[in-house]
Amino acid sequence: MKKILVTRRLLRSCEDKAETNFKAILNSNDELYSQKKIIELSNGCDGILSSLTEKLDSDTINKLPESVKIISNFAVGFGNIDLDAAKKRGIAVTNTPDVLTDATAEIGVLLILGACRRASEGIESARQGGWKWSADYLIGKQLTGTKLGILGMGRIGQKIAKVAKSLGMIIHYHNRSKLNDEKEDGAIYHQNLRDLLEQSEVLSICCPASKETIDLINKDTIEYLPKGAIVTNIARGDIVDDDAMIDALNRRKVYAVGLDVYKNEPNLNSGYLNHKSAFILPHLGSATKETRTAMANLAIDNIVEFFDTGDCRNKVN
Ligand code: GLV
Repeated sequence: MKKILVTRRLLRSCEDKAETNFKAILNSNDELYSQKKIIELSNGCDGILSSLTEKLDSDTINKLPESVKIISNFAVGFGNIDLDAAKKRGIAVTNTPDVLTDATAEIGVLLILGACRRASEGIESARQGGWKWSADYLIGKQLTGTKLGILGMGRIGQKIAKVAKSLGMIIHYHNRSKLNDEKEDGAIYHQNLRDLLEQSEVLSICCPASKETIDLINKDTIEYLPKGAIVTNIARGDIVDDDAMIDALNRRKVYAVGLDVYKNEPNLNSGYLNHKSAFILPHLGSATKETRTAMANLAIDNIVEFFDTGDCRNKVN
């Protein structure tokens, strides 16, 4: 039986599945392992079921035992893993696409609603009590008729587009390539980031974090947005330059942000913490029982497939 290291606690039924298929080293205390500990614990392992909270950089990957042949990431994103370093070492890296599209898109829509309709301020006022309804109390931005720019029209972007369209938003998007008519579903394609941002009254960041997208939304690109735009991020914190975004919020260039992901999670930039126009969530994108179960099962199946066939359809390197 192959041996795997499961770096974070999974839902019980998924840990049972891992133990049925492998000799699995589980993390029952859900300790956040250091890179050194991951290297130590993977001694004698054939694979690692990793999660987005571990940074598997080239230094760590190069120190993994020779026996490790696959890193199966419990996430659709894989920016935490140095794919080239893994490839050089002959280690396959896999992810969990599709199964988290709906749950993540739900949070993507929540971010748009929360930021546009001033949910943070509303929740705070309701909790404090003593608020007084009036005709102009906590007036927000209505979604109907508002232009939504989607940066990265993959599966999650397309699902957000579908829901937003049903709410009356007008969908624009930027992607490496134009989608076919069916996937586009009436959305307007922009070949350039700048063209998309100029149209985005609300921006939804849905693209993967990569060398090309780090700090893509920065001091300069923020200026392309219309004044008073709303920026939401369901993808990865690395895509946004936080200081530039907080500065834009402070001078009302950006009206509000809706964020689920951050640089240096969970230690997000303190500028967001007390900002009344920041609707912030603690990386909840895929956090439903159905989705977390499906993700963990797929991460396990990816390892099974890899050892059965020598390949895996969800291999990303
Ligand atoms: C969640 O953020 C994921 O990438 O799966």
